[in-house]
Amino acid sequence: MLGYIQYVLVNSVRELGGEEALVAVAEKAGLKALPSFRIDTDYDNAQCLALIKATGEHFGLDDKALFALYAERFIKASRQQFPLFYDMAESAYDFLRRQPRIHQTLASSVVDHSTKKAVASKFELIEDEGRFWVNYRSENALCGLYEALFYRLLEHYGETGRLEHRRCVHRGDELCQFELFFDGKRP
Ligand code: HEM
Repeated sequence: MLGYIQYVLVNSVRELGGEEALVAVAEKAGLKALPSFRIDTDYDNAQCLALIKATGEHFGLDDKALFALYAERFIKASRQQFPLFYDMAESAYDFLRRQPRIHQTLASSVVDHSTKKAVASKFELIEDEGRFWVNYRSENALCGLYEALFYRLLEHYGETGRLEHRRCVHRGDELCQFELFFDGKRP
């Protein structure tokens, strides 16, 4: 996975628990030290998942609590680092329609063709008769992260809505499928 998710995670660990937490999380994740993650570099998926798990364990948070905490920081960090993506979107719906393209834009600086292809293949949007679905296929199975980011993004735009998890790899389905609803607005 490109290093932005890990970059925000490591910064969060540092801000919440200082150097001590960084050392403890690295150790729990089986790393001597945490790399300086870069958005233009592709990192091992298993390493990213191990870091997420180690962070949750270190701070005593289950996945839901960890992803909620992370989403709070991620939306603020990405708003600061990539203001244009937010300014271009008038609403959470507008932003989410662009989210797969945002990922692809970020992957465009990576030289490796297979990384670009992998990033592009993860999210598929389906809009049909006013309904908005997202198919998410990834060995990382971070549907909990998607859900937390969805709700925090609504908050950013001062909106409400909900996500229905129709299919889920954690329940044995071959992909995760979300249906997204936006109060007061129809796609
Ligand atoms: C400006 C805002 C955003 C930036 C800069 C950003 C950036 C990134 C990057 C660089 C990755 C790694 C991509 C890869 O290697 O496949 C990633 C992963 C991910 N992002 Fe975003 N993202 C943003 C917004 C969002 C939003 C709003 C959502 C969901 C509502 C989202 C959901 C995810 C998920 C679920 C992954 C993990 C993908 C996997 O399975 O590997 N992102 N993001």
